[in-house]
Amino acid sequence: MVRVMSLQYSVHAGPFEAGFVEALGKLGAAVFGAPKDDLAWRLAHMPMASVVCASEAGDLVGFKAGYATGRTRYYSWLGGVRADFRRRGIAGELLRHQHAWLYERGFIAVETATNRDNLAMTQANLRHGFAVCGLKHKSDRVQILFSKELR
Ligand SMILES: CC(C)(COP(=O)(O)OP(=O)(O)OC[C@H]1O[C@@H](n2cnc3c(N)ncnc32)[C@H](O)[C@@H]1OP(=O)(O)O)[C@@H](O)C(=O)NCCC(=O)NCCS
Repeated sequence: MVRVMSLQYSVHAGPFEAGFVEALGKLGAAVFGAPKDDLAWRLAHMPMASVVCASEAGDLVGFKAGYATGRTRYYSWLGGVRADFRRRGIAGELLRHQHAWLYERGFIAVETATNRDNLAMTQANLRHGFAVCGLKHKSDRVQILFSKELR
């Protein structure tokens, strides 16, 4: 059977409602296999936090969250797509919407970091204009650092 998807994309900026943060927390836990403990904290406390959402029939199936690190710089922190919705371009669309939203608000650069073994996220980043700008050595893994000039 072919599943016809009717996906909707929306951008949410803080302050975030408790129900929204809870739904996002559930999706994050499903996507990463464990709750992301500081998701709610970062959404409440980091400057200009935003979440781009992909939904189908009212269900949240993908997200990309980030926040400002300066007046014109943004960090695209965390994202994921529900397992049964992957490989259909949703991660790429989330990036496209995020970057357009940031550009409209005067941001000139967006940065992100991806675990070195995450081929899908690396591919989506490269496809959407990010360039590799470094490596970050963490205690348990290495991350590729990406940056993109918004125009
Ligand atoms: C990473 C993730 C968000 C990608 O979501 P997605 O909607 O399936 O990605 P897309 O369909 O937009 O694919 C993006 C690109 O990666 C490629 N890709 C997707 N899954 C892949 C995989 N498992 N291996 C290799 N390449 C893959 C796609 O072909 C596409 O490349 P293209 O533009 O050249 O065709 C998703 O796999 C996920 O949620 N993973 C777990 C959480 C995670 O790793 N989040 C990112 C770190 S915060």
